[in-house]
Amino acid sequence: GITRRYNFEVKMQSVTRLCQTKSIVTINGQFPGPKIVTREGDRLEITVVNNVKYNVTIHWHGIRQLRSGWADGPAYVTQCPIQTGQKYVYRFRVTGQRGTLFWHAHISWLRATLYGPIIILPKHGVPYPFPQPYKEVPIVFGEWWKADTELVINQAMKTGSAPNLSDAFTVNGLPGPLYNCSTKDAFKLKVKPGKTYLLRLINAALNDELFFSVANHTLTVVEADAIYTKPFTTNTILITPGQTTNVLLTAKNHHPNASFLMAARPYATGPATFDNTTTAAILVYARNPSQKHEHTKLPQLKPKLPFFNDISFAAKFNSKLRSLANSNFPANVPKKIDRRFLFTVGLGLLPCPKHQTCQGPNNTMIAAAVNNVSYVQPKIALLQSHFFQTNGVFTTDFPKNPPFKFNYTGTPPKNLMLSRGTKTIVLPFNTSVELVLQDTSIIGAESHPLHLHGFNFFVVGQGVGNFDSKNDPAKFNLVDPIERNTVGVPSGGWVAIRFRADNPGAWFMHCHLEVHTSWGLKMAWIVQDGTEKNQKLPPPPSDLPKC
Ligand code: C2O
Repeated sequence: GITRRYNFEVKMQSVTRLCQTKSIVTINGQFPGPKIVTREGDRLEITVVNNVKYNVTIHWHGIRQLRSGWADGPAYVTQCPIQTGQKYVYRFRVTGQRGTLFWHAHISWLRATLYGPIIILPKHGVPYPFPQPYKEVPIVFGEWWKADTELVINQAMKTGSAPNLSDAFTVNGLPGPLYNCSTKDAFKLKVKPGKTYLLRLINAALNDELFFSVANHTLTVVEADAIYTKPFTTNTILITPGQTTNVLLTAKNHHPNASFLMAARPYATGPATFDNTTTAAILVYARNPSQKHEHTKLPQLKPKLPFFNDISFAAKFNSKLRSLANSNFPANVPKKIDRRFLFTVGLGLLPCPKHQTCQGPNNTMIAAAVNNVSYVQPKIALLQSHFFQTNGVFTTDFPKNPPFKFNYTGTPPKNLMLSRGTKTIVLPFNTSVELVLQDTSIIGAESHPLHLHGFNFFVVGQGVGNFDSKNDPAKFNLVDPIERNTVGVPSGGWVAIRFRADNPGAWFMHCHLEVHTSWGLKMAWIVQDGTEKNQKLPPPPSDLPKC
């Protein structure tokens, strides 16, 4: 492989959407941010220079970071933030992965505007396991606030309330023609009849899972989270924040200038109100060379999308996702399990800080937790503290099971209060882990897109209601489960995942709905070094930011 270098200058830029102009944090003035194109086996060196007033870190979401944990990026997990006027060079290799991922800021809510695609091409001469597309197009979903997003989250965190909803969803940074004051702000994809396009779908939205569909066309899923899948054809895709999905779209023999909407809107089952608006981009068929002007009339054909809370569509769609599991791309599912864990994920309440008024029930704060522990961000990064054995930063007593048992998807327990802590689980090198993630309905059943840093995992089972440890494991798929880095824990249900802890470091696991991350739905795994030289985490780079 070769080394590819990128310069990321974090700087403010004025941007107008929905008829309002605001100054946003960008990379190099671009919104969405620059596309990183690399090849399996290459090294990346990305120099991030911080020229804004906020502390910044960048995370390369889904990149395995094998023994390069210092470059992973989550603030106060693998590094202290890059402060104003400082820089940090993220150095890592891309190994054993090919497909679509993305990068985003990993501190506070800066990822609202700091995000962009990562395209990993297969090694030279290695074809895709599907027909070579005519063109490849990133389609990045985002969320746009008219207000300053740092003010939105800071205000909510102070009062323990829910932050204001976004004003629009976006495709490649543009809300599209279905919003007021946005007719011209639409992403257009021009296609030629008979050609096949690879759409690299990325959900970079902060707080919403999305349905996506193209009017009058079908989509063939071929890859998810940079892992090839068994191809299947569908009218609609479901994609959680943190997930990426590659689909093939074949342009039909439509007349020139025919145009169709490609639209996305939320899948939402939670208790909260949500933004039920629709973002759209436009698929336009190439015009004849004889036609001088493109016509500018809006396309009328909108796709049909599932109802906002269509849980059964979600379950069916997710069960269709399967690894290729062939000799070229085997599914190395851990068969013998060393450690089993059951984690509940969901919302709860925390006491209001003294001398403050909070907006949760009975003067509490809305919060979120894993196994009832709402994560508290430490003052220095977990990985530094682990590597240099600094005491007092985190504890290693994260509960392996929920602290008390109840009917997770039925009547909530009487006490909805959570506890706080910076707790981790320590895993010896190469431990094979089975983890069941159980949604709770304490405040409301809700799908939580859980993201694990540093690993891919296999989704071996999912179900509705409470996980049944006696009968459910017998139904696990150990043959061709999907391998990925982010999975939607079903609303009012559970999902079981398996991974091998073959990557030493400190690895964050959290809900990729940013509001739930802010509320504490996160924890970390500490994976110890192995005994061989190539099983150890190297010391930190000399330019690692200091706290
Ligand atoms: Cu995409 Cu911890 O994040």
